[in-house]
Amino acid sequence: MTASTATPPRTAADDDWWRSAVVYQVYVRSFADSDGDGTGDLQGIRQRLPYLRDLGVDALWLTPFYTSPMVDGGYDVADYRDVDPMFGTLTDFDAMITDAHALGLRIIVDLVPNHTSSAHRWFTAALAAGPGSPERARYLFAEGRGAHGELPPNDWESIFGGPAWTRVPDGEWYLHLFDPAQPDLNWRHPEVRAEFEDVLRFWLDRGVDGFRIDVAHGMIKAEGLPDVGFSTLTIGQRQVELLGKGRLPYFDQDEVHEIYRAWRPILDSYPGGRMAVAEAWAETPQRLARYIGADELHQAFSFDFLDATWSADSFRKVVDTALAESTVVGAPTTWVLSNHDKQRHVTRYGDGVEGLRRARAASLLMLALPGCAYLYQGEELGLPEVLDLPDELRQDPAFLRTGESRDGCRVPIPWSGELAPYGFGPAGSELSWLPAPATWAALSVTAQTGLPGSTLELYRAALRIRHEHPALAVDAGGVTWLESGPGVLAFSRAAGATVLTCVVNLSGAPVPIDGYGEPLVASEALTGQGSGHLLPVDAAAWLERR
Ligand code: GLC
Repeated sequence: MTASTATPPRTAADDDWWRSAVVYQVYVRSFADSDGDGTGDLQGIRQRLPYLRDLGVDALWLTPFYTSPMVDGGYDVADYRDVDPMFGTLTDFDAMITDAHALGLRIIVDLVPNHTSSAHRWFTAALAAGPGSPERARYLFAEGRGAHGELPPNDWESIFGGPAWTRVPDGEWYLHLFDPAQPDLNWRHPEVRAEFEDVLRFWLDRGVDGFRIDVAHGMIKAEGLPDVGFSTLTIGQRQVELLGKGRLPYFDQDEVHEIYRAWRPILDSYPGGRMAVAEAWAETPQRLARYIGADELHQAFSFDFLDATWSADSFRKVVDTALAESTVVGAPTTWVLSNHDKQRHVTRYGDGVEGLRRARAASLLMLALPGCAYLYQGEELGLPEVLDLPDELRQDPAFLRTGESRDGCRVPIPWSGELAPYGFGPAGSELSWLPAPATWAALSVTAQTGLPGSTLELYRAALRIRHEHPALAVDAGGVTWLESGPGVLAFSRAAGATVLTCVVNLSGAPVPIDGYGEPLVASEALTGQGSGHLLPVDAAAWLERR
């Protein structure tokens, strides 16, 4: 397959599609299961593409579907150029991307360059070849400390908890910033660089529109592998707590930018606006900005919403900070309320009725902001985090090491029916790799479709307006904050005389909103129609004035 057969013809203006796109994150394992084995797959995605088109998103980001032992949900890749049999085949991928493009949906795939799986042929060769071998040079093997090399080479900690080093039987240690089944590659090795440049071309040739770069700040480690200087053991603070706040010798090293400067010409050599978004954490907005630009990557996720609490001050700060970062960076903001690594925002905002109301309001806030929005599958259904998964079913490798598990946001999507797994698989299939709660029938796609006031219909309406309204267009004006009472956020965006205002009520009482114009969409029914519209508490609305 060549790029030209998989990619529909596009105009030059399309090359900037990612600047204002709504990207829907598909956690492949949990989206739709076409063959009844309890695991989502590429054919399942293909069958559900019309749902995604009707939802109104522009692109899909697929989490890893490559050959993998699935120790870390596929972020442990054994073969970067193939599809794991549990997800299908390369032929399934080609059919899926062809159909997606025909429906006007772009496809972003996940690239995991910091580490391979321990089942990757390079790592098995490294273990077999022994200390000092060229095979070991592609990874980060080192002698231990202590009289007999019995201590790890330095004090680095795994993001998943515990030391970042594991000792192999011949006495050497290898580095893994995540699970021991995810050995870190040595990105100072030319073969590693050449390999990933080839992997990029492999997927670009199959027509992908972009890449989400996993741990984009991690590939280069400080020369000499110096100690951090503190650890959970010494001061009780995990090193990972410095992520995005301080310097670590294994993250955000200057040399990492050489890698992206080599990748950008590859992306640019393909037609149709191929892009890359970094999952990067850096100490300051200025350092994050360095990942982005005409000679590096197109976007870096702005993760501040993920940590914002439900308060007007907190949200205002997130928006102002992200917009300021966007100015520094010279690229549009990428808003993220939820993803496969974080507790779902319904639950973060209080769970139950209150959490759902707030989540719906936050989504309207996010979708009115300029830039690119990343939606995580299921947020359009108002899914909460599943908090009561039995421990023995949890599969997140971090769970065993830290007691914290990301499984609760990875439960399969409810599509239809009264009983779990709610049409996740084909008719009659009862399997799902994680169980869905018995209470999710009313949250299914079928139950919410066409239901006035449902979360799904709210997202559909908001995405339709976002696409059509001139004040939300990519070249429309930025955010202007308006005077509002305590606990209320109000901002407008304008295209000429047409103004769209988003009001979010985080106060304890309904607020009058007629002064802002005619309501277009609201996350809860407005009240007080006779005496002027009132926006209820924990709700948001978009209003228009022409
Ligand atoms: C990223 C992914 C996460 C994964 C980790 C290691 O942070 O989002 O799911 O566990 O990288 O690859």
